[in-house]
Amino acid sequence: MAAATSHSLQASTRIASTHPQLKPSSDSQISNSLSFSSQLRSFSLKSSQSTTMRQLHSLRVSAAVRTETDSGTIEVDISLSPRVNSVKPSKTVAITDQATALAQAGVPVIRLAAGEPDFDTPAVIAEAGISAIREGYTRYTPNAGTLELRSAICHKLKEENGISYTPDQILVSNGAKQSILQAVLAVCSPGDEVLIPAPYWVSYPEMARLADATPVILNTHISENFLLDPKLLESKLSEKSRLLILCSPSNPTGSVYPRKLLEDIAHIVARHPRLLVLSDEIYEHIIYAPATHTSFASLPGMWDRTLTVNGFSKAFAMTGWRLGYLAGPKHFVTACGKIQSQSTSGASSISQKAAVGALGMGYAGGEAVSVMVKAFQERRDFLVKSFGEMEGVKISEPQGAFYLFLDFSSYFGSQIDGFGAINGSESLCRYLLDKAQVALVPGDAFGEDSCIRISYAASLSTLKDAVDRIKKALTSVRPAIPV
Ligand SMILES: Cc1ncc(COP(=O)(O)O)c(C=O)c1O
Repeated sequence: MAAATSHSLQASTRIASTHPQLKPSSDSQISNSLSFSSQLRSFSLKSSQSTTMRQLHSLRVSAAVRTETDSGTIEVDISLSPRVNSVKPSKTVAITDQATALAQAGVPVIRLAAGEPDFDTPAVIAEAGISAIREGYTRYTPNAGTLELRSAICHKLKEENGISYTPDQILVSNGAKQSILQAVLAVCSPGDEVLIPAPYWVSYPEMARLADATPVILNTHISENFLLDPKLLESKLSEKSRLLILCSPSNPTGSVYPRKLLEDIAHIVARHPRLLVLSDEIYEHIIYAPATHTSFASLPGMWDRTLTVNGFSKAFAMTGWRLGYLAGPKHFVTACGKIQSQSTSGASSISQKAAVGALGMGYAGGEAVSVMVKAFQERRDFLVKSFGEMEGVKISEPQGAFYLFLDFSSYFGSQIDGFGAINGSESLCRYLLDKAQVALVPGDAFGEDSCIRISYAASLSTLKDAVDRIKKALTSVRPAIPV
């Protein structure tokens, strides 16, 4: 096994150095893909020396293993598609899994890496799901989702967001993640550009790559609350620009786009007929006054250009129910539905009944959701105050979602006895996991290496404990640059 893994690592290194577009896979991915490798006798990899994107599409990296069976030696081609080789695995998922494994091994890790509410699904929703099972509502639904749920979504979008859709302009999927991927796959052609403000949700650039499109990263700054500068957007637009992805409230920064800024962006979008906007509004209800949510599709002239994505995971604490949706012009929604019909088909019938229950809880989720939002706000206030008192930490106060994206770059450049150098967000998070046993996500996963992300989907007492541990672990790490 060990020999097989090291051969595999050599192979992936060679791919990456010959073709910088292809990112190496993680060790664990490689060993998973070689589950039969105890029988490995040899491994070989050949790749041609092509370098252009066009050639990349036809590039075939061949890799073979020989295994010995009773009937002789057989060779298995274990090469992977250039498409999958071009995609990085999700760092948030990897860190969450690592922290869970440590916790299961008895290490008292405080897990603040996951992007999921710590609350239970509200009882009304759970009961709707249970009734669905009891009443035998357990068969395939239409691919696009039940008419009952799509009608309820249309009603919600009209009442809460001021956007009019008919049920045939809604596609229900297994989570907003699927809705976004299908939208990117449906509208992007090879070579198109997908514009993504950074810090970004980890999956956006990888989804662009899966569609053979090119992610174009638009950097934002903590001093501007991580909001996109419309002038930067304008300067990056060309005839290749196909999709702008906006996420408000944002994961990982918690920034909320004010209406005026969205209007400025809309004016620019209106001048570029090829450009569409994917508006990821999954955190819309987790928002703290005085911030307010504006749906991009509700802005003048933007309905035809916008693919609105939303879901039930965050506000309704339904991550495991896997339910999200896309709303947009029928032409695009039908195209996404075509992809879904050939991959997963319709979402779970049980989850769809539960989602109807969720949308029936009242405006913006009613009392049950506002109780959770109040708790998130209390935690945000506590963390902003606590880290605000810490030397060398820069903060942009989040207006929504349940993340704090803190600039810890003044701690970079330190040398810790028994640990080594802290030279970026990844080593700082490793140090904090080692020393403080707090799991956080390095900002480089979101395209901003100066920062680390703290998910405050944990009780106030857990957060207090985490802050104490982080402060204690960092007392021996002096900020390198005074701020
Ligand atoms: C910004 C953003 N969009 C979409 C999703 C996907 O949500 P789900 O697939 O659980 O509905 C997430 C989940 O972390 C997210 O943070």
